Amino acid sequence: MTKSSPAVFFNPFLPGFTDDPYPHYAQLRELAPVHAHPLGYWVLTRYDDVSTLLRSSHSVEERRLGPGTLREINQTTHSDGARRMRGLSMLDQDPPDHTRLRRLVSKAFTPRSIEALEPRVGVLVDEALDRMADAGEADLVAALAFPLPFAVISEMLGMPALDHVRLRELTATVVRSSEPVVDPQLLTENATANEELTAIMQDVLAWKRRTPSDDLLTALIRAEHDGDVLSDDELVAQVLLLYIAGHETTVNLISGGTVALLRKPEQLRLLRANTDLMTNAIEELLRYDCPVQMSRRITLTPLNLGGHEIPAGTFVTASLASANRDASFWGPDADELRLDRANARQHLSFGAGAHHCLGAALARLEARVIFTRLLARFPRLTLGAVSWNGRINLRGPATVTISVR
Ligand code: HEM
Repeated sequence: MTKSSPAVFFNPFLPGFTDDPYPHYAQLRELAPVHAHPLGYWVLTRYDDVSTLLRSSHSVEERRLGPGTLREINQTTHSDGARRMRGLSMLDQDPPDHTRLRRLVSKAFTPRSIEALEPRVGVLVDEALDRMADAGEADLVAALAFPLPFAVISEMLGMPALDHVRLRELTATVVRSSEPVVDPQLLTENATANEELTAIMQDVLAWKRRTPSDDLLTALIRAEHDGDVLSDDELVAQVLLLYIAGHETTVNLISGGTVALLRKPEQLRLLRANTDLMTNAIEELLRYDCPVQMSRRITLTPLNLGGHEIPAGTFVTASLASANRDASFWGPDADELRLDRANARQHLSFGAGAHHCLGAALARLEARVIFTRLLARFPRLTLGAVSWNGRINLRGPATVTISVR
């Protein structure tokens, strides 16, 4: 333990934590809102502190870390190629590289291209709902929450027909290794998965250059700003980020949001009776059960928060999930689901500041189409067994049994 470690600290190994982390976060907000973890990093749990960090210019780049850190581990487990790719995604870059990468990708990922997807998303959702109606009962994750965002981002990018089962395995491995706690075996699996995904994406991009089309991959290949374009390695890194972030996060919003809604019948009734509430309801569902639970930065200068000075060069984990339940910001009903909450949109589930989620509009669109059609189609929707995926960061249900009859 470091000298300043508190008696209570962030401990994702507590029994039941991954099923319901919120009681632990409440305890941290009360007893150790800003603390040095025994493993050397710092943890923030209050809304104001988390928001301050995200909006600051502290670093996201791993390369500035010293020996024994994640960066170091990556260097020993990734081949040169995969390592080069990984650090090049905009999520891992500070300005000026972050600014130019984000600008180039935003050029292709426009609000107009997102809005244009609505009819197609509607068709895909209706097909899934038809199958659920025939079966009478379904696992919402397998039937809709996972395949829908996966199909949408694949079509949007203009991916060729590939082995989807293998791709899902690979992206799931990569996602598991972004958890705060990983074992050495997983790091090795991650290195192999990264290699394979990178090679697949390089082939896809070579094919797309030969057969351009009206899709996001083609737009990214052509994206240009003041003579600046994405290099080949940068292109692969941004495409992998969009591809993985495009489905491994939204799945938790759809499935976790459904669980939250079906567990609160009075809120469900309110939404059924006021469909105009849908846009706000989605913000509240994002707040209530945060699909990406944490974010991290590395301090570039000393940072004063909550009466503590966090030294420069420190790894800081900010709990978005905890910030979203902080009563000092949201009021005494912070732990309740209130679909008409006036300031729900101030949640931090999409982050904040320079790295605010670039796919937020797409996730919101998918959620709106799904929840609107799910509720309209099945007036007697009921919840059965729910199991959780055991993840600390990209936490959500693994299975959600629902009956639609
Ligand atoms: C960044 C959450 C869906 C693409 C982020 C960040 C969060 C987040 C918290 C910021 C991370 C940080 O500051 O360290 C979510 C949630 C989603 C979602 C909760 C669904 C409910 C999507 C989708 C896409 C996407 C559908 C794309 C197709 C991105 C990208 C970034 C990002 C490219 C990096 C932005 C940057 O570094 O400037 N997301 N995301 N996300 N997200 Fe999302």
